[in-house]
Amino acid sequence: ELSPIDRAKFVAAKKAVEFIEDGMRVGMGTGSTAAWMVKCLGERVRDEGLKITAVPTSSRTAKQAAEVGIKVSTLDEAKWLDLTIDGADEFDADLNLIKGGGGAHLQEKIVAAASDQMLVIADASKSVEQLGAFPLPVEVIPFGGQASRRLIEEMLEDMDVDGRIASLRMNGDVPFVTDEGNHILDLNLRRIGNPVALSARLNQIPGVVENGLFIDICDAVVIGHGDGRCEVLD
Ligand code: A5P
Repeated sequence: ELSPIDRAKFVAAKKAVEFIEDGMRVGMGTGSTAAWMVKCLGERVRDEGLKITAVPTSSRTAKQAAEVGIKVSTLDEAKWLDLTIDGADEFDADLNLIKGGGGAHLQEKIVAAASDQMLVIADASKSVEQLGAFPLPVEVIPFGGQASRRLIEEMLEDMDVDGRIASLRMNGDVPFVTDEGNHILDLNLRRIGNPVALSARLNQIPGVVENGLFIDICDAVVIGHGDGRCEVLD
């Protein structure tokens, strides 16, 4: 018996996987919701003999895909994708997102940007009026990390946000390390007044590799509810 939150993630994932057709090149996201999608996709591959080219967005997802019998390809092998299905930490009515709670937003953004369509799957709690309550993940190069953090905090002084603290994400006693060997700064902003401006300014800082704002990338959100209903926002 699933908890309401797991049921919501599961029904959204199951619905999204129905959009996958034979022969498609599919990007597979990362996180607890995306894990339901990988599971459902593995079932379709096994039960229906569905043939797809599947590209994971993290080492974690690659591992899970192998476990459920999905053969994975790299983005370079696939060249371009028809559809990417991924979770999100927040989404708003304009389909802009915060991602990277799991630390995988760099590969996720590269994969989503190389897809004709990006479909997000989320439980209803991820829906927000304005982005920013969830701390914004920013992937930074370890070299000069202190200076990058200072440049980010200084830049935030000019931005329409309510919080301005950047914290280095830890893994126990050591910094968290991404699949690309970088660190993550989580920005506690509370409210992001202008996501477009903030994303542009962040990515101008030399040590910043990519931030977790997904703007004009997502095409639709499948929203799952604890009672098993789901709806599509597009
Ligand atoms: C991974 O880096 C993230 O972008 C995830 O997509 C996001 O954190 C959603 O994860 P959950 O589905 O576990 O909430």
